Amino acid sequence: MSLPSSTSAFSDSLVERDRACIWHPYSNVTAASPLYPVRETRGTRLLLEDGRELIDGMSSWWTAIHGYNHPDIVAAAQAQIQRMPHVMFGGLTHEPAIELAERLVSITPASLDRVFFCDSGSVAVEVSMKLAVQYWIAKNKPGKKSFLSVRSGYYGDTSGAMSLCDPQNGMHSMFGDFLKVQFFSEKPRIAFDEPWDESAISDFQRMLSNHEDELAAVVIEPIVQGAGGMRFYSPHFLRRVRELCDAHDVLLVCDEIATGFGRTGKLFASEYSNISPDIMCVGKALTGGFMSFAATLCSSRIADTICAGVDSAFMHGPTFMGNPLACAVSLASLALIDRGDWQEQVPRIEAELRSGLEPCHDVSGVADVRVLGAIAVIETRSPIRLNEVQDALVDRGVWLRPFGNLLYTMPPFVCSSEEINAITGAMRDVCVRYFTDDVA
Ligand SMILES: Cc1ncc(COP(=O)(O)O)c(C=O)c1O
Repeated sequence: MSLPSSTSAFSDSLVERDRACIWHPYSNVTAASPLYPVRETRGTRLLLEDGRELIDGMSSWWTAIHGYNHPDIVAAAQAQIQRMPHVMFGGLTHEPAIELAERLVSITPASLDRVFFCDSGSVAVEVSMKLAVQYWIAKNKPGKKSFLSVRSGYYGDTSGAMSLCDPQNGMHSMFGDFLKVQFFSEKPRIAFDEPWDESAISDFQRMLSNHEDELAAVVIEPIVQGAGGMRFYSPHFLRRVRELCDAHDVLLVCDEIATGFGRTGKLFASEYSNISPDIMCVGKALTGGFMSFAATLCSSRIADTICAGVDSAFMHGPTFMGNPLACAVSLASLALIDRGDWQEQVPRIEAELRSGLEPCHDVSGVADVRVLGAIAVIETRSPIRLNEVQDALVDRGVWLRPFGNLLYTMPPFVCSSEEINAITGAMRDVCVRYFTDDVA
């Protein structure tokens, strides 16, 4: 496609200015990788500065479930920004925070009735860890301050969250002693729809019973392991995790940051296992992708135990905690979720992703193709050459961001069938072009 030279020259100049002073996620500032300046977002589309338009199959890292610039959320943000963009949360409160906490309590599992607002997903995980540690201190068991997780997980980039990420593909080797050493059991090996085999829980069970006196909590992503491998595991595994945590007196934290708000086909993925965690983290799609915001919910058993003494308090309190603008935006997003359209959109997208990617099973370099809800993953046998593949996808009008051996999509729920077909068509094309073993 030939582009008007003025727009592409402006786009190039933005890239140049960016490269001079900005650091991008997980990037090397000296080894330039492709950058695509975005001028505007509209619905499911990214409008690039060079005039091209892309269907966003990433929902901006899984957040923009209603598409971009949804008029209801824009209106809520504009109204709130006029009235009160921010006010500190120590000693003050406001209706948007109260209403949002009430809504979150009403839609999450029944045991969760206390909400702590956080700035991002990683912070929500830190808060969950601090809650668990303070709970056991209050119970006079201060030795319970470590965590058990399963391999192949991802929980964020702050140091506590990082310590729980997969010890091999996470950042443990780089950060070494800086990170607290946690316990890890085997990754859940039975896939979402495979028959359950009780031996699949034995490593987890052994770790839990060997270390129960040291463990504050188990932290796990329910059903879908996201950035640690894009894996979908059996709901029986999580059910057994809940039973074993109860049996060994260890708290259970479910990280629903990636899975929450309909992405897997349930409002929260832990519903597949019919369990209630003691602590739950939500983020990402909470604001419909408008801004960073998250929350950690816990049971009143935990809150009341931590706060039992007169001088006892939970020791966390970010400057922008409970930001009214983020609360109002989140409420507008939740109102759209309440309308229930996602309950038809996600199963339709799931069926379309399944049939659209079916031919990829036959590509020689493809190890697996899997779909759950509005998530589709192609796992390759060798690492994906990110720059080439991303460029090829952009040429086909689709924005995806592969990593490692994974090409995946998590599209906005409002994508039309035609848009899902365009995404799966582009994925099929790059599969044949780049993942066929004998293609260099
Ligand atoms: C399951 C999970 N937990 C935590 C996080 C961290 O969230 P954030 O990037 O908002 O800090 C992520 C981000 O991808 C995630 O997928």
